[in-house]
Amino acid sequence: MNFAIETIGLTKRYGSLTAVNKLNLKVKRNTIHGFLGPNGAGKTTTIKILVGLLKPNEGTVKVLGQEVHGDQADARLSIGYMPELPKFPKHLKGSELLDIYGEMYGMTKQERREQIPKLVELVGLKGRENDPIGKYSKGMQQRIGIAQALLNNPELVILDEPSLGLDPLGMVEVRELVKAIAKEDRTVFLSSHLLFEVEQVCTHVTIINRGEALISDTLQNVLSKLSGPATLHVEVTTLSEAIVKAVKKLPFVADVTQNDNALSIDLKTLDDVRPQVSQAITQAGGIIVSMNLQRQNLESAFMKLISKQQGDEAQ
Ligand SMILES: Nc1ncnc2c1ncn2[C@@H]1O[C@H](COP(=O)(O)OP(=O)(O)OP(=O)(O)O)[C@@H](O)[C@H]1O
Ligand SMILES: [Mg+2]
Repeated sequence: MNFAIETIGLTKRYGSLTAVNKLNLKVKRNTIHGFLGPNGAGKTTTIKILVGLLKPNEGTVKVLGQEVHGDQADARLSIGYMPELPKFPKHLKGSELLDIYGEMYGMTKQERREQIPKLVELVGLKGRENDPIGKYSKGMQQRIGIAQALLNNPELVILDEPSLGLDPLGMVEVRELVKAIAKEDRTVFLSSHLLFEVEQVCTHVTIINRGEALISDTLQNVLSKLSGPATLHVEVTTLSEAIVKAVKKLPFVADVTQNDNALSIDLKTLDDVRPQVSQAITQAGGIIVSMNLQRQNLESAFMKLISKQQGDEAQ
């Protein structure tokens, strides 16, 4: 299979610190892939290697099917890249910045004239494109950074923490923008330290910590691995053996515990199975008083996964 990004045994050391450790990363084409990990996990280092700004100590990197060697420029022509907290010259107007970058990508004057207004509109900067970047808010700077990453109509767009430093509204807007730039024949790879952000935009996720990938899968599979069994709490007027038996028989039920007239049902699924449980209890002669589905907090499950690795290493 031809991946948009494929690394094998990728390792990068800064002196005695191993920032990326034998990383095997596979990013399928035409997905929005989140690269998730806490501060210092090795996300930016990996991304800089992918775009050819850093050379790895060990391992191989393929981007869009082509092997990347540090300074090779041709693979980069099909990649759009927004660095972490992009800093652009403050005196340039947004449109001038795009024009200069467009020229660097080898776009003709005509192509730039056609493409730049479209990008300005796409990223929501229409009307502000002729203001100097020094007058842009953080959110606007991220947007011009995203526009810059799209100039060459790349097959692969790599965004390093696109919503870093933004307020909640700015984050929502950038998330919407990321969804808008993902289209057929385009892969978006973005890093983030926020699970809830990745959860809202990505189709696939890799979780990295201390330079190592902990999980890499579809968003749904990662979420279900993280969240473990949800629990359904049901209260009935009178509990009977028949009710307990009927609930235990349901294929998605892992375990049932009884407490007076209440049942705590551990589920094997993330689906909302309240209708099926309700039907089983009713058919067994029970009358339901209340029903409450409790999902594990994903953010805390994510933190647990990260700290578990750190605990394992300490032992
Ligand atoms: N130029 C450098 N020289 C020395 N150490 C570095 C350098 N760049 C990064 N590091 C270290 O490598 C590790 C990984 O850093 P990296 O910037 O890749 O993490 P990150 O996942 O992008 O973190 P963040 O979420 O804070 O952006 C960290 O321990 C960091 O201190
Ligand atoms: Mg970073």
